[in-house]
Amino acid sequence: MTTALVVAVDGPSGSGKSSVSRAAARALGVAFLDTGAMYRALTWAALRAGVDLADADAVARHARTVALVMGTDPAAPTVAAVVDGVETDLTEAVRSPEVTANVSALAAVPAVRSDLVLRQRALIESACLAPAPGREPGVVAEGRDITTVVAPRADVRILLTADESVRLARRAHQDLGAADAAALEATRRGIVERDRVDSRTTSFTAAADGVVTVDSTHLDFDGTVAAVLEVVAQATGTS
Ligand code: DC
Repeated sequence: MTTALVVAVDGPSGSGKSSVSRAAARALGVAFLDTGAMYRALTWAALRAGVDLADADAVARHARTVALVMGTDPAAPTVAAVVDGVETDLTEAVRSPEVTANVSALAAVPAVRSDLVLRQRALIESACLAPAPGREPGVVAEGRDITTVVAPRADVRILLTADESVRLARRAHQDLGAADAAALEATRRGIVERDRVDSRTTSFTAAADGVVTVDSTHLDFDGTVAAVLEVVAQATGTS
């Protein structure tokens, strides 16, 4: 029997952790879990239901009623929510500016976090014990607290970082198609401010004990994926 491989990746906005983790999962033949999409899907559902995001109890109560369906194929990851028995695909909707602007408030609610941590652990376990046909047992799971809270005993734990200016330029290119002064300024609000708020809830700017830092400041996308795969190979003794 092949042993399962769990790779945990954390990092700030614009570090490339989603796209890099996806590519690493593809290369390794395992599942991919975007935990940020889960916080985003619950935010979408709360906004739709008119839940006051400043009311932590109401947010947590509502979150518990929303089932999430995570598609973990790294070639085409999806997220859907089941609300009142109806499954709605949210893969695009979770990227909306409205969700992005509100997700930090929901992610700051401790009862929502403990609920999602349990769901994330169950998804990781299922990717290990019952991989989809054609996939190896295991998962690359990415977020803000995967190396520390969700999967502190993962086989490989990585903090993916990059200098703030590089993260800003990458995100400006990705979201606005340019990295001129105006695009950088517009992106700064989204990235720097959101990371500042998020860092009150989770610690993702410094590597915890045993977590390997991959700094992508001077690496391109393929170089970053290669660096992550090298860390995996070192940790699993396959390099
Ligand atoms: O990575 P992202 O931008 O899709 O994450 C969306 C939000 O969810 C972000 O504001 C931080 C939060 N988040 C979290 O608190 N813990 C995680 N494991 C993943 C995301």
